[in-house]
Amino acid sequence: MNKVVLITGASSGFGKAAAHRLLDTGQWTVYAGARRVEKMDDLAARGARTLRIDVTRDEDLQSAAAAITEAEGRIDALLANAGYGSYGMIEAVPMEEIRYQYEVNVFGVARSIKAVLPQMRRQGSGRIVITQSLLSNISTLGLGWYASTKHALRGMSTALRQEVRHLGIDVVSIEPGGVDTDFGEVAFGKLNSVSHPEDYRRLADDFHAYMVDVYRKSPGPDGTAAAMVEALTARKPKLVYRTTMDAKFMPLVASRVPDFAYDRIVLAEIRKAGKKAAAS
Ligand SMILES: NC(=O)c1ccc[n+]([C@@H]2O[C@H](COP(=O)([O-])OP(=O)(O)OC[C@H]3O[C@@H](n4cnc5c(N)ncnc54)[C@H](OP(=O)(O)O)[C@@H]3O)[C@@H](O)[C@H]2O)c1
Repeated sequence: MNKVVLITGASSGFGKAAAHRLLDTGQWTVYAGARRVEKMDDLAARGARTLRIDVTRDEDLQSAAAAITEAEGRIDALLANAGYGSYGMIEAVPMEEIRYQYEVNVFGVARSIKAVLPQMRRQGSGRIVITQSLLSNISTLGLGWYASTKHALRGMSTALRQEVRHLGIDVVSIEPGGVDTDFGEVAFGKLNSVSHPEDYRRLADDFHAYMVDVYRKSPGPDGTAAAMVEALTARKPKLVYRTTMDAKFMPLVASRVPDFAYDRIVLAEIRKAGKKAAAS
């Protein structure tokens, strides 16, 4: 009998790549959710069931979980993956952008988990895989509000992991660093639209140059999607998958140096990227 998974954020990037990989196995019934249903036609053509899910809407998640339970009698796994980034200096990011990042990245995951847990508890098994980030562990200037949402997920998922273990439910975190998906484009679009006070101008320009460099060097989504599939399918998954070099390396550096040294390293790297961009 096929296993049943609900994936949020399946219209693009990691979510879509993981959905394709699960379909490749022939052992999974994939429910793929996103707002842009038409972007999941390729998944539907391969047998996935596509659902219009906006993770900011309670009713979308509740009715998705009810429909899956009715059709399949079970929900074996959730990949809570939908996410959104809006970069800029802390003072300059508009309140509505701060709120929206929390709505999608934190409350959207809360809604997804609350929707599937009753069925997972009833069946006495389940796996919840949560797309977090390198920025669940560290933060840098320009990424503060987004990083704060991913820090919140880390705090929540550690607690959840301990709370549901005795119910036969595993909780696994995926922590990618910079990866070349549509995510960067969305976040850059927002960064370009933020109006930074003059006092931040130089820093904001250097940060922009730094992020351009990060995404230029970034891998594609395949390695992270493969880790997601392992997290969903392995008999004993790791608790955390750090899926890129920067995700493995940067938290290690940050944990080994005093906070003042960490700040200096980040500022130096970002200024260096700004100078390099200005010289080219
Ligand atoms: N790419 C990176 O560098 C990176 C690094 C670390 C962590 N992450 C995390 O990885 C996850 C996936 O991102 P990605 O890189 O694959 O980016 P992506 O290609 O932009 O995909 C984002 C997905 O989230 C969905 N989404 C956004 N807002 C939504 C909402 N309100 N309701 C439902 N779905 C929504 C989008 O679908 P619709 O727009 O169709 O709804 C899309 O399918 C996110 O949680 C992100 O924070 C990304």
